[in-house]
Amino acid sequence: MRRKLVVGNWKMHGTLASNAELLAGLRAAEPFVCEAAVCAPFPYLASCVLALQGSHIALGAQDCSAHEQGAYTGEVSVAMLADIGCRYVIVGHSERRAYHGETDQLVADKAKAVVAKGLVPIVCVGETLAEREAGHTAEVVKRQLSAVIHTLGHCMPQAVVAYEPVWAIGTGKTASPEQAQEVHALLRAQLRAATSHADQMRLLYGGSVKADNAASLFAQADIDGGLIGGASLKAADFTAICRAAL
Ligand code: PGA
Repeated sequence: MRRKLVVGNWKMHGTLASNAELLAGLRAAEPFVCEAAVCAPFPYLASCVLALQGSHIALGAQDCSAHEQGAYTGEVSVAMLADIGCRYVIVGHSERRAYHGETDQLVADKAKAVVAKGLVPIVCVGETLAEREAGHTAEVVKRQLSAVIHTLGHCMPQAVVAYEPVWAIGTGKTASPEQAQEVHALLRAQLRAATSHADQMRLLYGGSVKADNAASLFAQADIDGGLIGGASLKAADFTAICRAAL
């Protein structure tokens, strides 16, 4: 039985004060049946670690460098994230693929760097609206996942995969539970062909998950939780989504 995982992706939002208030709200609502995590912007990770002491809510980052260390101005290594107390690192979010030119291989290299330090990569895959309308959804997500499968090899079961259709992110348009499940089933089948541990791996859905649609998405056979953007910024909303993950 896979324990569900609900991850907040705060993106480039928040202040010291608003983060403290948000985390206090989440802590007041603990415990959850699911595992919960929040992925904060780099400058706030240290204060989040302190705010989450004694909590079961895990901490994650939203990106990392593929390099181990060295002259890479502005980059943040996985070793630093591990050092500070992160458990998860989102890699290959569609906003990074689109605005920072991240390729399938770079995303795979980042996932490998995360696993190498004992952290858990949350690998995002997903098609654009144009790709969906052209009937290319399966091909796109399989290509994106394939790069990670080949690069991680026997370490693949250590990853979490998040299916996030680009057209559903921040738009209020959620994939229907059936649409999401259809792609999750494809991804699960691709993972089964690569590893005997595919049925223990968690596949998250992301894209306009809200308190009122979370339960029906999480009820699908291959949806093991969510990656939550906008709705993770309010304690009441994120808490309600965590409670919907049973
Ligand atoms: P959203 O974002 O929930 O605001 O659509 C999800 C994500 O980008 O991870």
